[in-house]
Amino acid sequence: NPANRPPLTLALSKGRIFDETMPLLAAAQVHVTENPESSRKLILPTSDPGLRLIIVRASDVPTYVQYGAADFGIAGKDVLFEHAAQHPGGLYQPIDLNIAKCRLCVAVREGFDYAAAVRQGSRLRVATKYVQAAREHFAAKGVYVDLIKLYGSMELAPLVGLADAIVDLVSSGNTLRANHLVAVEDIVPISSRLIVNQASLKTRSAQLQPLIDAFARASQA
Ligand code: PRP
Repeated sequence: NPANRPPLTLALSKGRIFDETMPLLAAAQVHVTENPESSRKLILPTSDPGLRLIIVRASDVPTYVQYGAADFGIAGKDVLFEHAAQHPGGLYQPIDLNIAKCRLCVAVREGFDYAAAVRQGSRLRVATKYVQAAREHFAAKGVYVDLIKLYGSMELAPLVGLADAIVDLVSSGNTLRANHLVAVEDIVPISSRLIVNQASLKTRSAQLQPLIDAFARASQA
């Protein structure tokens, strides 16, 4: 009896990921009337009684899904990469939804000669939220870096002498321009992925699989 089953829970963050997920849900005939920015609600019902949304911090989406508090979730490749380094396994192989696209870049102050610093083998101070991705990138290039973990507003770090460079997401480039920074290296293109709790996929596949299929179809269209 479907009425007795608890609704499936989809975890996602507000902002760009929420906005760009709405058309994917619509393709699965699911509609959401409340906006988390204005309603401030953390649990949002949908037009489908079998599906609800929970609104969490972007970097917390994999945690909710891994522990089964959400059956599935939508998170950027950047977030998944950082999460996987700390919590290997536990998340079903994600589907690329082709939404919330941007790129992970190295950026420096205008006028800072990054190429020369790399050529000379200088030790660089790099501020970032994406410590794992940054460590891997600079190791592959053979560049020595001191990584400084930040939780936001990375663009500030080179302006006040905290770091020589940052590793951050760039979309329009407006934030870099507004702070007189330039992207000097692309690390990886980023988009959001659908991740699924492994137990949910086994025990609730009759409910889950049609939604996963609809998302996959709509995102490849
Ligand atoms: C991201 C990123 C940059 C900005 C880039 O931050 O960290 O600050 O967007 O976008 P742009 O190239 O279009 O200016 P976001 O707004 O996602 O918030 P965050 O600081 O919480 O990461």
